[in-house]
Amino acid sequence: MANAPRPLVGKVAAVTGGARGIGRATAAALLARGIRVAIGDIDASLAEQTAVELGADTVGLPLDVTSRESFSAFLTETESRLGPLDVLVNNAGIMPVGPFLEESDAIARALVDINLHGVIFGSKLALERFQARGRGHLVNVASIVGKSASPHLATYVATKHAVVGLTEALRMEFASSGIDFSVVMPVGTNTELYSGLQQIRGIKTPEPEDVAEAIVEALQTGRVDVYVPRRMGATIRLAALMPRRVADTISQALGGNDAVTHPDRAVRAAYEQRIGQGMTASDPAQAVGTPAKPGGSPAESQTPEAPDGQPDVSQPEINSPISTPASS
Ligand SMILES: NC(=O)c1ccc[n+]([C@@H]2O[C@H](COP(=O)([O-])OP(=O)(O)OC[C@H]3O[C@@H](n4cnc5c(N)ncnc54)[C@H](O)[C@@H]3O)[C@@H](O)[C@H]2O)c1
Repeated sequence: MANAPRPLVGKVAAVTGGARGIGRATAAALLARGIRVAIGDIDASLAEQTAVELGADTVGLPLDVTSRESFSAFLTETESRLGPLDVLVNNAGIMPVGPFLEESDAIARALVDINLHGVIFGSKLALERFQARGRGHLVNVASIVGKSASPHLATYVATKHAVVGLTEALRMEFASSGIDFSVVMPVGTNTELYSGLQQIRGIKTPEPEDVAEAIVEALQTGRVDVYVPRRMGATIRLAALMPRRVADTISQALGGNDAVTHPDRAVRAAYEQRIGQGMTASDPAQAVGTPAKPGGSPAESQTPEAPDGQPDVSQPEINSPISTPASS
């Protein structure tokens, strides 16, 4: 007989990148189960607005996951407003798309800073708290490409494989600690991050709410590997048993390699503009370690300053993360 679902009412959760997309849907799903939720986002004003829209028991806070100071302040504020942290969902992430050799070093660094180092900071800061209490649930949002790959996403794929490995290693290190770990691996999901891209043939594009429900189920059951849709788990396990050539042929037949190689740049323009701005904050040559200012807009928190306090216009402006291939 299946175990009874773990009670969630009254718990406290923090969701990074919760202003929109999967993070927002997750915050809403947690609230619907009686959890009190803090959402943190580099887009501080949208985080506040989202919190107001989601209603009581939600707080929206500024957060730059690439800054330990910012992440620590986010969790401290969450606990002072809502109570001791029970759940951290490390969800914030970016996904620039394009040929590897056209990816700037600043973008590669931003990918690692946000998608991987942000998760490392969050994991350390949450586990310190969880370990002291002998309980807690760390949920790291990776991707299906944390167990597979895709052309035109090489650095993103690398960060997601790293998040899968990190979570597995932590699960081993903290075995018997009373702390639960889950790693979430969705296929392309209907958010701004995936705008202008295609889905693998035969797979219905999940909505962010589908990923959110899978996270709720993981909190209720303690599930470690959270595939969205669930059947992708069997596909990944089967592919791992196949000779490489057979697996490659099947992947090509399903159109897996084409999913992101021909983006609709017009549809994707708004997203690329947004993450181009986000990346400026994460370029170590610019503003790493600068927490998002409470109530400040992302642009405010990301404008590097020269020693005289004036904006440093010598820094390159990154608005288009990947140069547009002539063919698309
Ligand atoms: N949408 C998909 O197809 C898909 C599939 C698999 C995995 N994922 C993963 O799910 C997560 C959420 O993706 P999404 O589709 O909801 O994207 P999204 O762009 O809709 O939302 C991501 C949020 O993260 C925030 N963010 C970015 N940099 C930040 C930083 N430095 N500090 C704090 N917040 C920051 C953004 O402002 C945004 O609100 C990501 O980790 C992504 O890699 C997405």
